[in-house]
Amino acid sequence: MLQNALADYRVVNPYDHYVNPQWVRFLDVLQMNVGYARCRGAELHTTDGRVILDFISGYCVHNIGHNHPRLVDALKQELDACGPAMLQSHVSDLAGQLAERLCQQAGGRLAKAFFASSGSEGVETVIKFARAHTGRAGILYAEGGFHGLTCGALSLMSNPFWTERFGPLLPATESVPFGDLDALAKKLAKKSFAAFVLEPVQAESGVLVPPNDYLPKVQELCRRYGTLLVLDEVQTGLHRTGRFLASHHFGVEPDMVVLAKALSGGLVPSSAVLMSDAVYHTVFNSLRRAIIHTSTYSENSLAMRAGLTTLDILEDEKLGQRAAAMGERLRHALVDRLSGYEMIGEIRGIGLLNAIEFRAPRSGMLKLPFLAFTRIHPALFGQMLIMNLFNKHGILSQICGNNFMVLKVAPPLVVDDAQIDHYLAAITKVVDSIHTSNAFWTEALSIGRRVLSSI
Ligand SMILES: Cc1ncc(COP(=O)(O)O)c(C=O)c1O
Repeated sequence: MLQNALADYRVVNPYDHYVNPQWVRFLDVLQMNVGYARCRGAELHTTDGRVILDFISGYCVHNIGHNHPRLVDALKQELDACGPAMLQSHVSDLAGQLAERLCQQAGGRLAKAFFASSGSEGVETVIKFARAHTGRAGILYAEGGFHGLTCGALSLMSNPFWTERFGPLLPATESVPFGDLDALAKKLAKKSFAAFVLEPVQAESGVLVPPNDYLPKVQELCRRYGTLLVLDEVQTGLHRTGRFLASHHFGVEPDMVVLAKALSGGLVPSSAVLMSDAVYHTVFNSLRRAIIHTSTYSENSLAMRAGLTTLDILEDEKLGQRAAAMGERLRHALVDRLSGYEMIGEIRGIGLLNAIEFRAPRSGMLKLPFLAFTRIHPALFGQMLIMNLFNKHGILSQICGNNFMVLKVAPPLVVDDAQIDHYLAAITKVVDSIHTSNAFWTEALSIGRRVLSSI
């Protein structure tokens, strides 16, 4: 009897049983565990007939929108052609074409591409290549950054939430505060660091856009002390911030850049490390080392075709210009509507990578429930925002992974005016309800208690 019941349960919900039941619980608690039937552009159609607007883009994956019809067609044609999808024993024309276009668009010193399948793999690559190129072991990184969850990438992340219980991580990695040039100069002067790895705009720490002169000064210091400048553009690349790379806003010429996420339009895992010829030549420096660094699926033709078509779409639909214009309008409207509320801190961003920063309330009426929230869990306030936006207003969004008080606003770059207006109306209502009604707080507290009692 019990055996049959268990077998039935596995058939009904195999994910819950075989993959990650905690993830299922997490979404259940937030009442966000819904089925999606069809996703197109910025719209997600649920199996029960709702339309949800995507304002997180899978953390900057869906720059061209979900299931762009041109990309879907291109991939179907690639499959129908039955070409050498992944021989690992031939020279891939598609990889050559994609590398050429990426290097041309990135410009500066970036003249070679290494392909992989994830952002973390790209970060592992830059650690290895920087060490090989400089003969130094040390890797310096900016505090608060997010670089992925493999051991090398974790070694470049300061938030203990991600690293706890996974050590020991890589030795010889050290950090400096993002934006602090004096601290950077002191560390680099030791001449022990192969690379300084950072996001040009820190996404998960709260969408932190540095002052215009920060990255040029970072570059100057790196060059002075023989350290490679490596930019992680996994979230910021592919026109998310308006320009092809976020580093283009700041006029710097990094030695290596990591791209992933939006690179293949959200349909095939893919990443690329763009690097200078000098870096390439010290790693692949002889025939014997022709495959000294590779990855099984790296140049597979579906990923390469996806990359080429994604670049075509970004260009033809002028999505960079669109991101810049839409982002500008969005930020102005958010400031207009929200800045008078007590719990709103800063509204900031660049292109369509934006953030609404909330701050702890000062007034008695809001202070008590907020304290109760943070005592239950520091992320509870942010998650309640997400839940409200999702369930009451049909908006999918997220708080930042390294700053729970910051709500990310990052829709696909194809988002239209009506969808932006819908978001503006929704977030205004939610922020208003936080400040004017008990419902937000009482509902959230009861959810929080329910979670606590089931831990
Ligand atoms: C800035 C940044 N770098 C690297 C990564 C790691 O990418 P992946 O999850 O594809 O390994 C992420 C993932 O979110 C990221 O945001």
